[in-house]
Amino acid sequence: MLSFLLNDKRINFSPAQADLTVLDYLRESKKLTGSKEGCASGDCGACTVVLAEVSQTSAGNGSNAAAKLYYRPINSCITFMSALQGKQLITVEHLANQDKLHPVQQSMVDHHGSQCGFCTPGFIMSMFALYHQDIAVNRTVVEHALSGNLCRCTGYRPIIDATLHACANKQVDHFNQNEQQTIEQLQSLVINDNSDTNLLTPTSRESLRVAIAAHPTAPLFAGSTDLALQVTQQLKQFSRLISLSKVTELNQLKVLENGLLIGAALPLSDIETSLLHYFPTLNELLSRFASHPVRNQASLGGNVANASPIGDLPPVLLALNATIELDNGLTRRSVKASEFFLDYRQTAMQQGEWIEGIYLPFLTANCHLQAYKISKRMEDDISAVCAVFNLTLNDNKVASLSCGFGGVAATPVSINLEALLKDKPWSDAATFELGKTLLSQSFEPIDDVRASKEYRQHMLISLWRRFWLQTNSQNQAIATRTITTRIGQLNTHKVEADHA
Ligand code: FES
Ligand code: FES
Repeated sequence: MLSFLLNDKRINFSPAQADLTVLDYLRESKKLTGSKEGCASGDCGACTVVLAEVSQTSAGNGSNAAAKLYYRPINSCITFMSALQGKQLITVEHLANQDKLHPVQQSMVDHHGSQCGFCTPGFIMSMFALYHQDIAVNRTVVEHALSGNLCRCTGYRPIIDATLHACANKQVDHFNQNEQQTIEQLQSLVINDNSDTNLLTPTSRESLRVAIAAHPTAPLFAGSTDLALQVTQQLKQFSRLISLSKVTELNQLKVLENGLLIGAALPLSDIETSLLHYFPTLNELLSRFASHPVRNQASLGGNVANASPIGDLPPVLLALNATIELDNGLTRRSVKASEFFLDYRQTAMQQGEWIEGIYLPFLTANCHLQAYKISKRMEDDISAVCAVFNLTLNDNKVASLSCGFGGVAATPVSINLEALLKDKPWSDAATFELGKTLLSQSFEPIDDVRASKEYRQHMLISLWRRFWLQTNSQNQAIATRTITTRIGQLNTHKVEADHA
C-alpha cells in the first residue's frame, strides 16, 4: 500500500498495475486533467506536477533542525506511483485558494504568458516550485527552473517575466499557511516495503535482496525516467517492478578520505551541490543533463545501469577512473568503470546484483578536468557527442590522462591516450597531433537522427582541440575567440573549431 497526500487529501493506494504512471493516475483515476500529456517522454513539461517532501533544515548553529517542506517539480508522465510514497503530490488544480488565483497564476495572466494554454499548467507548476524556494531569483535561475517546459505559441519572454515578477513579490500563500499541518500529515504516513504487491518498495539492503530473490525478472528502477519510456513510448507492460528509491543504503552520500561515494538512487539534483564542490568543471554538463524536472527524479545509478551509449555521466566516470559499487545483499564488490560497460546496454552486473553507489576519486593537484556535450538544444536534449578529459600535468608534461566518450560507440567508451602521450610536453603541437590521430582512428560512430557519423568524428577532434587549447595557458585567448561549436550544424559536417 502506497501512502501519500494528493493535494490535501490522504491517500492509501495499491496500484493494480505496477507500471501505472502518476499522470495516468491523475487523469484516468482521479479525473484531475489539468496536467496534460504532450510527449509522454519527459521532454515537454506539459505534465509537470510538484512533489513536496519533509526536509530537515539546520537552524544555523548546527542544532534545532527545523522541518520544512521542499518542493520539487517532476514529469508525471514518466514517474511511477512508488515515487509518491510518503510525499505530497500537488497538482495545478490545488494552487488557487478558493476563487483567488495563486500569485504565479495571476502573474501569468498579468504578463500574457498563455495563448493556447496547453503548456500552461506545466509552466505554472515549475513556477510554483521555484516560488517556494528560498533563493534569490534572477533570469538565469528562472531559465534553469523552466528548462523542462516547452511552449509552442506564446514565446518565453512573457513567461519568464511572469516568473520573475511573482518571485520578486512573494506573498504568503495557503501552502505557507498550512505547512506545519502538511508536515504532520506527511510524518504520520506509514512507509512499508510493499513486498506483497506488484510494485515493491524495499527499504533496506536485506529487503531488496529478498524482493529480487522472489521476483528475479522484475526490473529495478530508481527515478523511472528511463524505464517509464518503455511503457509510454514502446507500450511495454511490466507486471511487477522493484523500486530502489526507498532503500536506505542507496540514498547516502559520503565524503570519504580520497573521494565521494554517491548512493545509486539519489536524484541528480540532490547530489549536484556536492558533485560541483569537488568537480566544479562539470557544471555545464550537469546543468545540461536533461531538464530540471528530470534531474529531480533521475539518479546517477540509473544513468550508469542502463548503460546507454549516449548517457551523459558514464563518460565522466570513465575519465575520473570511478568504481561502480555492486551489491547482492550478501556480498559487495567494486568494478572499475572501464570494465563495467561490456556491450550495447550490457554491463558487468550479475543476476541478483544492483548498484549500491558510485565512488569518484578526488582530483589531484595540477589536474584539468573538462566535460563537453554537443547536442542540438542547450537544455533537455540528448548528446550527439560527449567527451570528458582528465589531465594531470607535471612540469608541463603529461603525467596522466584519462578520458571518456559518449555517442561514438555501442557503449560509453575510453581509449588509452595516456600510453601514447605520457611524458610528452603538453603545449607542443605534436602532442595534440598524436592524440588527434589516435582519436580519429579509434571510433566508428553511427549515423542517426542526432548526428551523422562524419559529424561525430569531426566533433571528437574538435573537442580534443578545444581541451588542448583551454589547458595551454598561452592558448587560452585563442580558445576563447575561436571555439564556436555551433548547435544547429549537426549534419553539415562543418566544424568551425577544427579549422579556426
Ligand atoms: Fe511531455 Fe510529460 S508529457 S514531459
Ligand atoms: Fe500554447 Fe504554450 S501557450 S503551447
